[in-house]
Amino acid sequence: MQLVTKPLKKAAAKFFAAAPFSLEKQSPIIPIRHMKFDFDATKIDHKFYMDAELASAYFASLSIFLTRGEDLVIDTARYHRDFITDPLLKQRVTSLIGQEAIHSKMHEELNDAFIEKDLPVKLFRVWAGWAFDYGFNRLPQPMKLSLMAGIEHFTAVLAEYMMNHEEIFFRSQDEKQRAIWMWHMLEESEHKDIAFDVFQSLSNSYALRIAGFFPALITILVLISVASFLVPFYRNPKNLISLSYWREMPYSLQLIFGLKDGVYGSSLKHIFDYLRPDFHPNDHDTTAFLEYYKERLLHPETGLLTPYLTKEFTPALRT
Ligand SMILES: [Fe+2]
Ligand SMILES: [Fe+2]
Repeated sequence: MQLVTKPLKKAAAKFFAAAPFSLEKQSPIIPIRHMKFDFDATKIDHKFYMDAELASAYFASLSIFLTRGEDLVIDTARYHRDFITDPLLKQRVTSLIGQEAIHSKMHEELNDAFIEKDLPVKLFRVWAGWAFDYGFNRLPQPMKLSLMAGIEHFTAVLAEYMMNHEEIFFRSQDEKQRAIWMWHMLEESEHKDIAFDVFQSLSNSYALRIAGFFPALITILVLISVASFLVPFYRNPKNLISLSYWREMPYSLQLIFGLKDGVYGSSLKHIFDYLRPDFHPNDHDTTAFLEYYKERLLHPETGLLTPYLTKEFTPALRT
C-alpha cells in the first residue's frame, strides 16, 4: 500500500506546489463538540420538517446520504492536511475533521432510528455505497478536494437558510431531531470556509473548483430529491392512494424549491455565487447568526444543546 501511496503523495505535492492564495479571510479557531442524543425511534417525528411528509423525507434522505459525503470530506481533508503549511489552517482542518466525524456518527444513529420508522435507510445506504465506493471515492485527489469544497458550499447554503428561518425547527415537538439539525447547522456555518481555503491554498484552479461544484449540486439537489420521493410510499404504501398525501405534495415542493421562501429556491443566488471567480464563503457574513445561535444553543443553563453536549475541546495550534 505504501508503495502506491508514496509516489501518489509525491505527485500531489508537486501538483499543489505553487498555488498563491491569501488566507486573509480565514475565520478563527473552532472547537470539536461531542454529543449524545440517544434517539428513541418511538419519538421520531417522520413529518419533522414543517409537518410536511415529502419535505421531511428530503431531510431524512439527506441525513442518510450526507454521512457518506461527510466521510469523503474527512478522508480528503486528512489526506491534504499534510500539504498545508499555514499552522492556523492546519489546525482548522483538524477541527473540520473532528466536527464532521461526529456529525457522521450522530446522523448514523438518527438513521438507525429511522429504520424503525420504516424509512428506506438500508436501501439508501446501498445506493450511497454505489455512488461513493464506485464513483466519488475513486476520483483523483485534486478532484476530491474540489468536490469536498463543493459539498461544504452546499452545507453552508443550507446552514445559512436554516439560521435565517429558525421557525422551521419548532413546528414539531421532536426535540432530538431539532437538536441534531440545529447543532449540525451551527457547525456547518462555523467551518464553512475551511474546505474552500484548503482547496484555494493547494490548488487555486478556478476550472477545477467549478468541476467539483456540479457533482455536489446534482447529488444534493437532484439525486437526493428524487430518492426522497420514494420515502413516503416505502413508509406507508397507502400514501400512493391517499388524497391528503397528494394534496400536501405541492406544499412540500414549495418548502424545498419555492423561489420566494423555499430552502433551495430562495438560495439560488447564494448557490451560484460559488461560480464567481473571486468568491469566498465568508463573503456571506454569518457572524451575527453564529453569535446568536451559540448563545441560544450552548448557554450552560438555557442552551438547547446543553443537555446533549458531553465534551468540547479545541485541537492545539502547532506553529
Ligand atoms: Fe457535517
Ligand atoms: Fe461540513
